[in-house]
Amino acid sequence: MKKAVIVLPTYNERENILTLVPALFSIQKLLKNWHLSVLVVDDNSPDKTAGAVAVMQKKFPQLFLISGKKEGLGKAYQRGFAYALKEFSPDVLFEMDADWSHDPKKIPIFLQAIDNGSDMVIGSRYMKGGSIPQNWAWYRKIFSIMSNLFVRIGFMHLSQKEWTNGYRAIRSWVVEKNLPSMGLYNGYVFQIAFLDKTLKLGARISEIPVHFTDRNQGESKINAPQYVWHIIHYVLTHSSFIRYMLVGIVGFSIDFMIAYLFISFHVVSKVIANMISAEIAIISNFTWNNLWSFSHKRIKGTTLSFLKQFFVFNLIASGSILIQGGGLGLLLKLLGDRQLNIGIISIQSWIVYKIFIIAFIIIPYSYLLYNKVVWKKSNS
Ligand code: GDD
Ligand code: MN
Repeated sequence: MKKAVIVLPTYNERENILTLVPALFSIQKLLKNWHLSVLVVDDNSPDKTAGAVAVMQKKFPQLFLISGKKEGLGKAYQRGFAYALKEFSPDVLFEMDADWSHDPKKIPIFLQAIDNGSDMVIGSRYMKGGSIPQNWAWYRKIFSIMSNLFVRIGFMHLSQKEWTNGYRAIRSWVVEKNLPSMGLYNGYVFQIAFLDKTLKLGARISEIPVHFTDRNQGESKINAPQYVWHIIHYVLTHSSFIRYMLVGIVGFSIDFMIAYLFISFHVVSKVIANMISAEIAIISNFTWNNLWSFSHKRIKGTTLSFLKQFFVFNLIASGSILIQGGGLGLLLKLLGDRQLNIGIISIQSWIVYKIFIIAFIIIPYSYLLYNKVVWKKSNS
């Protein structure tokens, strides 16, 4: 039998936990090769949640409880995970809300996905078959959708649809790997940080659709303004995509400045000056992307493999030059070469075309290829 421990953080969930715990153990009979335990991580809830758990422990020998100081949801998970790993040596740890927002009946589907090879399974509201509560107020719906979308786009990891929901099954090795670096994330941002780190580990992540039910009892502990700030801060400081964009802006400036200097001081011809400045920008981009944007996949190995990846990087950069040239030629031919008047602004059409090509083709094209070819997972 493999072991799964469901970690349930609680703060004032007495009414909910009294019905949820029996419901969780009733799932055991549906499982052939998994043995379930439940670990409640309570923060000395004033409503005596812990007392209710203690009473149920007489009936359910696989029900465990730890109590601590209230330091936030992320901290509660960190404590619960560390305790569960040490005490139970489980194969899988579950994250789950204790307020019935997460349907216990999904547990066998999570474990099935684990058995099929996933390292982490996420209960997803934002995929086909999943949903957020119909009865949420419009601002809660918008808040949930927007925060999730912000993270998804901020990390430019569009295939990962759910980033924030806390219904997850995670293999122990992933938790063991991530736990030492989670200390900063004590609030709800824990969920995002944990997923980001798991993606960077190269773990196999899958999503299953879940419906998120609004709680009937008690109230949400989420502090929305603080959560938003933590999300923005986390994404800005951890997204490879945002780093890649910043590196690109620096590269562009270097290119422009060097070309300008060489040309103003008549060092070399204009064409040669631009070729040199472009190559220096490419070297800068390659270096900073390797050291910073993709630091979790930094190129390792021999000098030769490093040079090989640098050469590939140059090929991709040359590719962007061809795409820009070709795209611009095509747009000029199709849409015309003229002066565009947008409101009070008058601008030459090629500038608009160029911006469009860079934003919608060059940036995604290079980012995709850097990820798939230059800094692919097997580098790390
Ligand atoms: N021990 C402990 N300490 N438990 C806590 C704390 C805390 O400081 N804060 C919240 N909890 C528990 C709650 O008692 C509940 O069981 C669970 O964590 C979720 O908390 P809610 O307050 O119900 O949060 P929510 O429903 O708004 O948040 C859900 O959606 C978020 C965003 O999608 C959760 O799934 C979050 O994980 C998710 O980030
Ligand atoms: Mn809730």
